[in-house]
Amino acid sequence: MRVLVTGGAGFIGSHIVAALAALGHQPVVLDALLPSAHPVPPSRPPGVEWIHADVRDEAAVAGALRGVDAVCHQAAMVGLGKDFADAPAYVGCNDLGTASLLAGMTAAGVRDLVLAGSMVVYGEGRYDCPAHGRVAPGPRAAADLAAGRFEPGCPRCGAELVPGLIGEEAAADPRNVYAATKLAQEHLAAAWARATGGRAVSLRYHNVYGPGMPRDTPYAGVASLFRSSLARGEAPRVFEDGGQRRDFVHVGDVAAANALALAAVREREAGALSAFNTGSGDPRTVGEMAAALAAAHGGPGPVVTGEYRLGDVRHITASSRRLRAELGWRPAVTFDAGMTEFARAGQRPVAAG
Ligand SMILES: NC(=O)c1ccc[n+]([C@@H]2O[C@H](COP(=O)([O-])OP(=O)(O)OC[C@H]3O[C@@H](n4cnc5c(N)ncnc54)[C@H](O)[C@@H]3O)[C@@H](O)[C@H]2O)c1
Ligand SMILES: [Zn+2]
Repeated sequence: MRVLVTGGAGFIGSHIVAALAALGHQPVVLDALLPSAHPVPPSRPPGVEWIHADVRDEAAVAGALRGVDAVCHQAAMVGLGKDFADAPAYVGCNDLGTASLLAGMTAAGVRDLVLAGSMVVYGEGRYDCPAHGRVAPGPRAAADLAAGRFEPGCPRCGAELVPGLIGEEAAADPRNVYAATKLAQEHLAAAWARATGGRAVSLRYHNVYGPGMPRDTPYAGVASLFRSSLARGEAPRVFEDGGQRRDFVHVGDVAAANALALAAVREREAGALSAFNTGSGDPRTVGEMAAALAAAHGGPGPVVTGEYRLGDVRHITASSRRLRAELGWRPAVTFDAGMTEFARAGQRPVAAG
């Protein structure tokens, strides 16, 4: 199978390219090599076609799609960014970019798409109130966060809530610009599928970590920030009280999920997008993750700072049962093994200074 991997030079994309090549497929990389993601140019895997272009470049996309069986769309600006001034860049890369890619696929007659979705589309995770059952707490008030009240309360009675695993059918509730663009990508892909008879799978990744993760930039994931602190001999600084629950999933398992989805997408219902949570199924707190990395690295233990970011949610963990049942996916890397490896393995280099 010849597969166009957009964002194939990135953290997850490069693992997908390696996984596809190892399975005997022919990955073609198209990547704009965004300076925010690649302060120094990435190394190019031998024998892989490599197109340095933006997904919004119509001619480059048309050329890249020639002879392609399916597209694996990873290209995006990631993370929370520095401030709202980043919004046009996020929308441009992620949404205009996706629309341009889908228009190119339509013209080229390519009908199979696997999209890098995200758990950020859900906002807060699933919560139950002892009195009111399933409830959907809204964004946390800045005053609560400043006062150290991190747990969202029941929107009806204020009671403490019990966090659970969210399913794909949960209502979307994006809480920041990046999340809004990831949800719009899914909506665009669904509209494209309906209009063209295409088939789309969105893998809603949880917190992906592992070798090759970019170092600390405003766009990096939390595991990377902790890993960078440890590399400098500093303690990982854990925001809030460290009790935020997440699902840390290894990049090798995410690459394997993409390979499975690419093999299965042509058998899916034409004209529709299906979404699959992609998480390890082994939720941990951010504090636990920091402690595991510090222990494996042999550095100072985490410091809980009480700081917070307004766009962050308290708990988000999902059930990946559908991905296991329908695509036969089995994550292979345990939390302990993955964090030990990550504590010692390299991150993507950054420019000096
Ligand atoms: N890392 C995570 O935990 C995580 C979680 C959920 C979803 N995702 C999604 O996974 C995908 C890959 O993320 P990543 O963590 O590997 O990030 P990354 O920044 O390492 O990779 C993204 C790649 O896309 C490229 N890119 C960005 N905009 C582009 C454009 N307009 N045209 C062409 N290339 C462009 C970048 O140069 C980069 O190489 C993204 O779609 C992201 O939203 C990541
Ligand atoms: Zn209640």
